[in-house]
Amino acid sequence: MTAQLIDGLALSKATRAQVAQRAAALTAQGRQPGLAVILVGDNPASQVYVRNKVKACEEAGIRSVLEKYEASMTEAELLARVEALNNDPAIHGILVQLPLPKHIDDHKVIESISPAKDVDGFHVASAGALMVGEPGFKACTPYGCMKMLESIGMANLKGKHAVVIGRSNIVGKPMAMMLLAANATVTVCHSGTADLGAMTRQADVIVAAVGKRNVLTVDMVKPGAVVIDVGMNRNDEGKLCGDVDFDGVKEVAGWITPVPGGVGPMTIAMLLVNTLESAERAAK
Ligand code: GUN
Repeated sequence: MTAQLIDGLALSKATRAQVAQRAAALTAQGRQPGLAVILVGDNPASQVYVRNKVKACEEAGIRSVLEKYEASMTEAELLARVEALNNDPAIHGILVQLPLPKHIDDHKVIESISPAKDVDGFHVASAGALMVGEPGFKACTPYGCMKMLESIGMANLKGKHAVVIGRSNIVGKPMAMMLLAANATVTVCHSGTADLGAMTRQADVIVAAVGKRNVLTVDMVKPGAVVIDVGMNRNDEGKLCGDVDFDGVKEVAGWITPVPGGVGPMTIAMLLVNTLESAERAAK
């Protein structure tokens, strides 16, 4: 193995410890940060994600309010809950876990969250703010990826070529904007890209965010490149794995994130950072 590991778990612990200190300072002023998490239905993956988020809040001294609803909840009922939380001064962040049941319009629900409490960074106002360089909440997963780059001395990517694989609103697109803001030259690849390897072989930084195993293999990576794996998949043995063929790619990359223990823990850490910053802003 030539690559060094970017330890997302260790970095997330350090980040969460800093959040805990700042949260305690707010709590001492009677302004404990509060996050509301809404889960509709019984998607097993969502239940695990939500449990992890609530647990991380508790550990950091952020009050979490978990609201669980039956899959039969109507869109109007959900919108009414979001509105109530928008108006609750003890709540600084609102997270509606996706996916929602089919009869509820995700987009409508996300847009109903006050941008001042949009700690997921999914609202169009947050996405637009990122695009034009205005202050706003950054989507947690790409934000965590940027913190990982910072941790290896790559906060400024001037002169570097970054290739993002995936164009989702949650990861690929905001990732590209954050890399651009850090002065990288950015290429966004996706299912319509003709020769993915020809693109990734030019990259100094590769972010794989597709949701499919082995999207990036060793022959597609320039020696020394930094490889960030956002994927969360299961292999044939049922073991958690990313989008990157880790065993192959680690032999040529300069740095690589593991799955699990890479991007996943950073996503939760950045959710806490966003919630804390929202509470700090409200206390001013
Ligand atoms: N579903 C999968 N990931 C996420 C996330 O980061 N936030 C929300 N709200 N839902 C998700």
